[in-house]
Amino acid sequence: MVPPRLAKVRLPIETPRLILRLPSRQDVPDLRRSLRDPRTAMAVGAPLHSKQEMRNPVAMVSRTRSEYRRGEHLSLSVVHRETGKCIGRIGLRGLSWTHQKVESLSYWIDPHFWNQGYATEASYFLCREAFERLGLRRIASQALDRNIASLRVLRKLGFVEEGRERAAVCVKGKCMDMVLFGLLRKEMRPANRVSSAWSRRS
Ligand SMILES: CC(C)(COP(=O)(O)OP(=O)(O)OC[C@H]1O[C@@H](n2cnc3c(N)ncnc32)[C@H](O)[C@@H]1OP(=O)(O)O)[C@@H](O)C(=O)NCCC(=O)NCCS
Repeated sequence: MVPPRLAKVRLPIETPRLILRLPSRQDVPDLRRSLRDPRTAMAVGAPLHSKQEMRNPVAMVSRTRSEYRRGEHLSLSVVHRETGKCIGRIGLRGLSWTHQKVESLSYWIDPHFWNQGYATEASYFLCREAFERLGLRRIASQALDRNIASLRVLRKLGFVEEGRERAAVCVKGKCMDMVLFGLLRKEMRPANRVSSAWSRRS
């Protein structure tokens, strides 16, 4: 039984070009293909997914559905309306009902669909649900300072840079900073300011 507060988000969430819904086994072949792509694998490994889940997304699907039932996280498949393909994932992780906030908006999109406004579109509609239906006040997110696309997505939506975790992630001796963002309800850009990408490209 999903906690009543989380059940206020009516699934699926329909956007102009996407459907955001709980993951299911039918997504597994698409997820597996995307996660094998080194461009995705490099960016979405730990802590979002374990090695086992990267190899076998069936585990990811079951974990996501249990977390949803427990009211801990809301992670959804991003489905492309036109083709019916699962082209990524988006989630609100670390829901705090006490403080009406979320620790992290996270997302990834299959590289074949990059730069067409899909992450921005999915994030906009999920954040809107979180503010309007869940009554959240604050959504945080983080992106490595070299992740230009993710920084751009967050800034387009109105996220405000709040700080920087220096040398947060070190890979093969090379350390990178993590940029910390926050979005309050009144700061979210209205749809007409963030929609140019999806209307221009649809
Ligand atoms: C980050 C990610 C989700 C973005 O998805 P997307 O659907 O391509 O995002 P959008 O198309 O909505 O927006 C991307 C923006 O970045 C811009 N961008 C991308 N690469 C860029 C670059 N090298 N230089 C400048 N701008 C760049 C795009 O032009 C676009 O901005 P615009 O609409 O103003 O033109 C996708 O790149 C991804 O899955 N990356 C791997 C996983 C990841 O990094 N997840 C986030 C972890 S914090």
